[in-house]
Amino acid sequence: MTALLKFENVTKNYPSGPTTIHALRETSFEANAGELIAIVGPSGSGKSTFLSLAGALLTPTSGNISINGKIISDLSKKEQTELRLSEVGFIFQAAHLVPYLKVQQQLEFIGKLAGQEKQALAKKSETLLTQLGLGDRLQFYPKDLSGGEKQRVAIARSLINEPAIILADEPTASLDSTRGREVVELLRAEIENQERAVIMVTHDERMLDLCHHVYRMLDGVLTKDK
Ligand SMILES: Nc1ncnc2c1ncn2[C@@H]1O[C@H](COP(=O)(O)OP(=O)(O)O)[C@@H](O)[C@H]1O
Ligand SMILES: [Mg+2]
Repeated sequence: MTALLKFENVTKNYPSGPTTIHALRETSFEANAGELIAIVGPSGSGKSTFLSLAGALLTPTSGNISINGKIISDLSKKEQTELRLSEVGFIFQAAHLVPYLKVQQQLEFIGKLAGQEKQALAKKSETLLTQLGLGDRLQFYPKDLSGGEKQRVAIARSLINEPAIILADEPTASLDSTRGREVVELLRAEIENQERAVIMVTHDERMLDLCHHVYRMLDGVLTKDK
């Protein structure tokens, strides 16, 4: 079985004046289909750097990262953009919805970028939003949604192109613990029986029982906990 996401000896340094910040050190990692993986660790330890590398938003200083068996650095910039659109879904701490697009349009916009056909997209976005309990919110603007609803729209949006991996950076940070747990349960439901993995950065230890694997990041070193 090919890992959906694989890091082989990946290092990321940021130049910082006369010194260098070692944000990620010699890291190897694998995520397989059906896995919900948590990464915990203090602020500044390298978690967001890890996710940005995983989503091909950053280039490693050394080492190889592959998505679905394709080594990212072997691809052209255009191919990397296509890979990101079709194989990676991003969810951030704040939902980052586009203020002037209605709920359903948020999904259609991303689907269109990936070349999905209009009619199919309308149907698929409605189905996804309904599955996430937003069937009566399709024509709402973000400003008329609660925090939990916005985050569910962000989840639906991350799924519209049926990505192999979903990268979530503190997706529950803006929610109370009940809503936060619901969001993680929804993410977990999305990967079961599907060829997909979710990697989630979280500060909330109460979510960890829902995760198949837990990693800790400390000073750029990733260690497997569970
Ligand atoms: N673009 C950047 N330029 C320079 N240093 C950065 C940049 N992004 C992050 N860093 C540094 O890299 C380290 C890891 O940051 P980050 O990955 O954001 O950690 P976390 O998400 O765990 O808070 C920190 O020391 C941070 O200051
Ligand atoms: Mg971060």
